[in-house]
Amino acid sequence: MGQDSIIVVGGGHGGSQVVASLRSEGYEGRLTLITAETDIPYQRPPLSKAFLKKADHELLPLRPASFYEKNAIDLQLGTEAVSIDRRGRALLLGDNRRLPFDRLVLAPGARPRLPAIDGIRLDGVFALRDASDARRIRDQLFMSDSIVVVGGGFIGLEIAATARLLGKRVTVLEAADRLMGRVVARQISEYFLSLHRGWGTDVRLNTPVGHIVGSSGGVAAVETAMGDRIDADMAIIGIGVEPNIELGESAGLATDNGIVVDKNMTTSAGEIYAIGDCAAFEHWELGRRVRLESVQNAVDQAKATARALVGKAEPYRDVPWFWSDQGDFKLQMVGLSNNATSGVVRGIPDDGTFSVFHFDNDRLVAIDSVNRAADHMVGRRMLAAGISPSPEACADPNTDLKALIRRPASG
Ligand code: NAI
Repeated sequence: MGQDSIIVVGGGHGGSQVVASLRSEGYEGRLTLITAETDIPYQRPPLSKAFLKKADHELLPLRPASFYEKNAIDLQLGTEAVSIDRRGRALLLGDNRRLPFDRLVLAPGARPRLPAIDGIRLDGVFALRDASDARRIRDQLFMSDSIVVVGGGFIGLEIAATARLLGKRVTVLEAADRLMGRVVARQISEYFLSLHRGWGTDVRLNTPVGHIVGSSGGVAAVETAMGDRIDADMAIIGIGVEPNIELGESAGLATDNGIVVDKNMTTSAGEIYAIGDCAAFEHWELGRRVRLESVQNAVDQAKATARALVGKAEPYRDVPWFWSDQGDFKLQMVGLSNNATSGVVRGIPDDGTFSVFHFDNDRLVAIDSVNRAADHMVGRRMLAAGISPSPEACADPNTDLKALIRRPASG
């Protein structure tokens, strides 16, 4: 028997965290991190914001290159995993190599969904997922005057805000009747609609994209599904993502809008784990399978997987949280508001700082905060501890929420 070997596929926040956590949990076997990207694992959140603003903005590595060396982590950049030989316990790579493993962690993330419309392949049409996309978007952005963003979700709105700061003419086409509808409360959608409009962005709701009009190979305009034409030098598509499940699916792993995992991130094959944007897990509160697209979820699932791999498995139950920076407004979300039946506001929207507390009947399930980090932080602790103040208490500015964490008796 040789030394135990673990391979992690995917160099995003999740993949990089798994290898780091495995070493800090005391795993001493062979450890390999495979990523198709040529950059060492880096922070993704700045790609739609700070990175686009300055031509010389560097990527921020999650860990220095020396970290992987010092910790005997074989980081293989520019390497694509193409299939899994389950019987032979080996990963087959794009360069025809075959890497044996005892256990495998899949952290391949997700890829932007692209609409099947005319003009989608034109130069000047972009989707943002990784650093190479961000570099190309940045180069084109500096040369452009007018940008159409398709999709009023997180990616679209963060880039729209950045492009306005750079003085570009910006139009956002959103198919639904509100912004960020997948995740936030209607009140937050409305608030951000007025912010973006106030910054001078032409936001059009109920407006699906029609097609992209080309001229000499580049973009000349974007036409809405209703036939309105918006002249543009570039189009950015942010209409959501599709999980990268193919590697797992072709190896026969169970899938359901993601690679299905149990509470320890184990797939239907006991020796293979999956985490992050690609993993679909049974949510302990919602009572159904979910797939979460966030840095927090990837990182916390990575930590849980590392513990499981060293024999210290504990069910994954971390409270989900997300954030989005748009202009100088910070939107922070904790918990999942999908099942909420009511909500109350704390703070003053007109002052630019408030939170919406969401309840499922009388149980606090989520908080969306705008420039109110304290509510978000206390919310993370309340939800983790199962503390649920009444809606009236949450709305009352005199309620000291922190005190409820210290003394949960009234909760
Ligand atoms: P999203 O799901 O947040 O938003 C997509 C939006 O596009 C939705 O509002 C949807 O109604 C709209 N849409 C769909 N089809 C359309 C069409 N044909 N025409 C016009 N609008 C259409 O996805 P998004 O913004 O692409 O983000 C991609 C991923 O990146 C997600 O996983 C997201 O969570 C992640 N992300 C997270 C950030 C954060 O947490 N701050 C920041 C940026 C990205």
